[in-house]
Amino acid sequence: MLLDNLDDYKFWRDGKLANAPTQLDACIVEIEDPFKLSTAEKDKILSLCQQGNFALFNIKEQSNYADAIVSINTQFGLVDFDQHLFVKNQGLAYITQSNNKDQGEFIPYTDKDLGWHTDGYYNSIHQRIRAFSLFCVRPALTGGINEWIDPQMVYLLLREDNPDVVKALTHPEVMTIPEHKVDGKVRRATSTGPIFFIDEVSNVLSMRYTQRKKHIEFLDSEEIKQAVKHLDELLNASTDYHFVHLLRTGQGLLCNNILHKRNSFTDNKDSPRLFLRGRYFNRIN
Ligand SMILES: [Fe+2]
Repeated sequence: MLLDNLDDYKFWRDGKLANAPTQLDACIVEIEDPFKLSTAEKDKILSLCQQGNFALFNIKEQSNYADAIVSINTQFGLVDFDQHLFVKNQGLAYITQSNNKDQGEFIPYTDKDLGWHTDGYYNSIHQRIRAFSLFCVRPALTGGINEWIDPQMVYLLLREDNPDVVKALTHPEVMTIPEHKVDGKVRRATSTGPIFFIDEVSNVLSMRYTQRKKHIEFLDSEEIKQAVKHLDELLNASTDYHFVHLLRTGQGLLCNNILHKRNSFTDNKDSPRLFLRGRYFNRIN
């Protein structure tokens, strides 16, 4: 297996390096009709997601963006959505600045910086997020730029640098997110698990991580402290595999839960930034 067997790892690594995208322009697919993707459009998105775990797409102006996005996602097998807080119709969350006190507690619904993370890192194994889509209905006046990197490439780069680092990050209890309580009631149970792991369902190398350190507990060892430091340093660096991009109206990202972040933004008060996000238990296929 990839994590333990050196030959398996080398085979995987060489294939990954040979195919990994480094140019964003080559990762954008124009979709003519979101309700019926052509074979070429579909194949291109699938092959991008196989090589780099993400694809960008553009669609034309729609009367109902939510319907269009749900249709695209469905055509890639993304149907089992995470019914978490604030999800509206058909599994999509409307990410916009919120004055709603409940929602405003969550950074995605503010105009603040959002650090590196995979989606649903606090979910249980049974509710693992394997893919998400992020679509721009309206960008902010300024800011709100996204950055992302394929977690498999992060694993590869770390392992090439020092195999002990990834070994520490695969410890089954390396990262714990304590339970979330509201008025004494448990809204989300404690989540303990590895940072890098082979997902039981898809059998592919996956990741759960957040760079925030508040309310996150790491296993108390010098080795793990160092490993997390290395990981954060790599994420904060800029490699050929980091992508920085401002999504514009009509543009979306489809991915197998890649690591991503967002910088702070300023809204046009009359037409605030609005993104549609779907989180799925399925992988793109
Ligand atoms: Fe996210």
